[in-house]
Amino acid sequence: MASIQIDHLSKIFGHPKAVEKALEMLQDNKDPKEIGLETNTTIALNDVSFTIEDQELFVIVGLSGSGKSTLIRCLNLLNKPTTGQIFLDKQEITNLNKQELRDFRRKRVSMVFQHFGLLSHRTIIKNVEYGLEIQGVDRKTRTEKALETLEIVGLKGWEDKKPHQLSGGMKQRVGLARAIVTEPEILLMDEPYSALDPLIRREMQNELLTLEDYINRTIVFITHDMNEAFKMGDRIALMKDGKIIQIGTPQEFFSNPVDDYVVDFISDVDKTQIFKARNIVRKDQLIVDINDLRQEVLAKMKESKVDVCYVVDDKKMYMGQMSKEDVAKSRAKTIDKLIVHVEPILRNTYLKDLWSRFENYDENLPVVDSKGKFRGVLSKDDMISVLAQ
Ligand SMILES: Nc1ncnc2c1ncn2[C@@H]1O[C@H](COP(=O)(O)OP(=O)(O)OP(=O)(O)O)[C@@H](O)[C@H]1O
Ligand SMILES: [Mg+2]
Repeated sequence: MASIQIDHLSKIFGHPKAVEKALEMLQDNKDPKEIGLETNTTIALNDVSFTIEDQELFVIVGLSGSGKSTLIRCLNLLNKPTTGQIFLDKQEITNLNKQELRDFRRKRVSMVFQHFGLLSHRTIIKNVEYGLEIQGVDRKTRTEKALETLEIVGLKGWEDKKPHQLSGGMKQRVGLARAIVTEPEILLMDEPYSALDPLIRREMQNELLTLEDYINRTIVFITHDMNEAFKMGDRIALMKDGKIIQIGTPQEFFSNPVDDYVVDFISDVDKTQIFKARNIVRKDQLIVDINDLRQEVLAKMKESKVDVCYVVDDKKMYMGQMSKEDVAKSRAKTIDKLIVHVEPILRNTYLKDLWSRFENYDENLPVVDSKGKFRGVLSKDDMISVLAQ
């Protein structure tokens, strides 16, 4: 579990005395820009509060200088907040001592940088091993894990090359491998794809969305590109001048932009290129276990007042669905014969590619992740209303 709670976070850059003065003026509700000029400070974050859910892919978007990097660097305490607190699963991390902070950075959080940040004199595999090395993991385990991770990011066979022998996209894969090899709870990505060509960039975006299903991490992803933000994010925070202007799901931005700035920001976004099944999946389904008895299932369906329930195995993998009618009619003790398998939709499928599935079908379709885990259902009405908005 790794939810992140950010509570009244501010970061002011400048001489300590000046920062103190600026903070006072800020509390007196003076204009941040004027305070900056008057005290010779930069108010990079101004009283930011929000929560990132466990295993969410959370995107922070905003123009250059809006405070995105400052914010993400507060999450691993590369930036020390001027005021405010950060909690990881209710544990405060803004008050860790040196030793605890070192442990926190080694084990619980890692970061992918825009310009890769690879060690140029080390081979690719040694770059990936680095985080394990400082954790004191033994050589054999290190090598095994690094090889495994390089394979996951599609770089099998490149172990003994040096960073300069790789293209930008490949270097960023190494950056990602290095960040996930230690299995951190939180993955921080600061404009990881901004330096890449559009084609490679799109490929990397899609790969991360798939990879996410396998690594189950909380991911904080920064970009200044609204299309990328909406494509990647379960939820998005739009920043301006050190503040969060709006926070929500892509469709919340479209259906309810808080002001003209947001309207302007989202005006160029092509909805067909961003909306995926996951963006509008309905999660509140009745899910039953394949080993549940028919009578139990019937009782649950009555209690939840549903006509359909979804069946998963012990790993939460989608097995199929059942109608209340069938469950009620049957005389069987178990449910295995009652399950109807409906071909599920992958949650990262674009809505525009799903019309054909609904052509002669009006029921909800089951949605799974890349591993086959049940994630909810997609309704035809939701799909139409999102694309028509
Ligand atoms: N170490 C620092 N010292 C002084 N000022 C800083 C420092 N880091 C950032 N700033 C200032 O804080 C403000 C926010 O910077 P930040 O790097 O967080 O923006 P950003 O949204 O990441 O921008 P970009 O898209 O260009 O990366 C800027 O005005 C910047 O100049
Ligand atoms: Mg930045």
